[in-house]
Amino acid sequence: MKKSINSLLMLALVAGIFTSCNNGKTNKNGDRGALASSAAEKVYVAPGEHDEFYAFFSGGYSGNLTVYGLPSGRMFKEIPVFSQFPTNGYGYSEETIPMLNTSHGFVPWDDLHHPDISQTNGKLDGRWIFVNGNNTPRIARVDLETFETEEIIEVPNSAGNHSSSFITENTEYVVAGTRFSVPVPQQDIPINEYKGKFKGALSFISVEQETGRMDIKFQLMMPGFDYDLSHPGRGKSHGWFFFTTYNTEEANTLLEVNASQNDKDFIAAVNWKKIEEYVNNGGGTKMPANYAHNVYDHGTHNATTTMKKEVLTVDPTKVPGAVFFLPTPKSPHGCDVDPTGSYIIGNGKLSADLTVHSFDKMIDAIENEKFDGEAYGIPILSFEDILAGTVKQAGLGPLHTEFDGKGNAYTTFFISSELVKWNIETREVIDRQPNYYSVGHVMIPGGNSAEPFGKYAVSMNKITKDRYLPTGPELEHSAQLFDISGEKMELLLDFPTHGEPHYAAGIPADILAPKSKKIFKLEENEHKYATLTSEDARVERDGKEVHIYMSMIRSHFTPDNIEGIKVGDKVYFHITNHEQDFDVPHGFAMIGANNAELLIMPGQTKTLYWEPKQVGVWPFYCTDFCSALHQEMQGYIRVSPENSDIELSWSLGE
Ligand code: CUA
Repeated sequence: MKKSINSLLMLALVAGIFTSCNNGKTNKNGDRGALASSAAEKVYVAPGEHDEFYAFFSGGYSGNLTVYGLPSGRMFKEIPVFSQFPTNGYGYSEETIPMLNTSHGFVPWDDLHHPDISQTNGKLDGRWIFVNGNNTPRIARVDLETFETEEIIEVPNSAGNHSSSFITENTEYVVAGTRFSVPVPQQDIPINEYKGKFKGALSFISVEQETGRMDIKFQLMMPGFDYDLSHPGRGKSHGWFFFTTYNTEEANTLLEVNASQNDKDFIAAVNWKKIEEYVNNGGGTKMPANYAHNVYDHGTHNATTTMKKEVLTVDPTKVPGAVFFLPTPKSPHGCDVDPTGSYIIGNGKLSADLTVHSFDKMIDAIENEKFDGEAYGIPILSFEDILAGTVKQAGLGPLHTEFDGKGNAYTTFFISSELVKWNIETREVIDRQPNYYSVGHVMIPGGNSAEPFGKYAVSMNKITKDRYLPTGPELEHSAQLFDISGEKMELLLDFPTHGEPHYAAGIPADILAPKSKKIFKLEENEHKYATLTSEDARVERDGKEVHIYMSMIRSHFTPDNIEGIKVGDKVYFHITNHEQDFDVPHGFAMIGANNAELLIMPGQTKTLYWEPKQVGVWPFYCTDFCSALHQEMQGYIRVSPENSDIELSWSLGE
């Protein structure tokens, strides 16, 4: 398939004209697979049946993670991570507010980009999924038994935390690389002193294997480039990590021009094992820092924040043999390593060709010290010495590559809007399928591991246009599911995604489903304000602070009548759900509360803060339709004037 770039460009332009005419039928002429009668069967999951894969889609500017089933494209859940989530009270309940603490204070939103599932020996193990907050640099760990965010660590000396959050093959580290270089430490200097003064921190965050607990092991202080994406080495290249860079020009203004000057930027190859050894032997420099580490405990059902004051930094020039630059055309975006760990693919987004570097050749060049200059003391390897080959004129605007584990790679092309399958060894294009429209990432379950499950590929498209019924100026982004089990890809399904997915991670359902948590055991509830039996329900006053110890079970609250609350009080509802059945949460909502509802899982305690401002008798109720008598699940708070002498009292059924 040797189309010239010009004819591809023409195709892209023609497609653009059709889309702007909003002519859906014309576009569908390209969907040869979806019109085949077997496509419907391949995505049909009969009522009551389960999907074969879970797929976790990043929510981009939603700040959260969504969970879908494949092949059905059905959305199962939105997991709040970096954004407050009124649907279940995450970031509003007293227990979860600390999850969103940062050195900048409470930051209830972020831009969530790249999910990566934990691995053992290079294979998905389904313990946790890691995601990055791009805006206020953070890494989060979501537990895959509870599907809840358990931990968020802020990343200091970083900005635009984009080349994140990818993990090494035994989940030794989750890596966070800065997209924007910044002064380190932050200081008040002219912006045009960028060149040479700004640094790009690549953070290696260790993961404690029993608990998943994260800790910044070291930050590698790299030159002031933009670090775009990264992927781990695996197999023979385990111990290395690869980061694409752009703006090696070190421009600080009009980057669309000034950062597109160099014919080649770099992939930074980092031998993290070597640096780990250096650090373990006392290497590196501790520097003052200020960052939040937030941990949620499923025993106490509470999150706590620890402010950390120090971080260990490493100057790459102090560790010979640890960091090298691989010249890569041209402003490379995706940085992808094949399942064998032999090839590193640079998706040069301004290049027509795809660059495939050879790990073996890289090691040879390093051992023979065949360098082609240096940048800030870091050796640059020669492009020709390390190149395995190029995929010639595969498309326009390559962004990301995934793998099927059968020797094939799948690369997305944003400008020519297509998914292209090619052979890793021969670098010949095997198939191409149009994407509707302007594809960003592609995901194959396990595609970033040593063992991909090469049955489906999902492309995540940036522009939806005419694919769905119009919903005003904004449409949800679209995903497209391809059957990749055969020689040619077959388009099976379009489905909308939520927010803006930048990457996704898929895993066979049989790894996760059997261990998914159904309830929290009431007898294991260590929440300090838990009400473990309804006899313990009570109301206590401490000055203006009022603590209501409340329990709930189908279909009442204990207590449900409370008097003696006064205007200006600070009221905390600590509510424990006494249910011990799967899928029976209760909700709690208080009129006039300035936060959100709570959705309380069986066996769990959650706390809602409320300031009564108006005298009267004010109701609260359960928000989740829990039984035939859900509408009866309600209660009243009597609020008296601030100077009232009405005694505190509470009751149920009197
Ligand atoms: Cu409890 Cu509705």
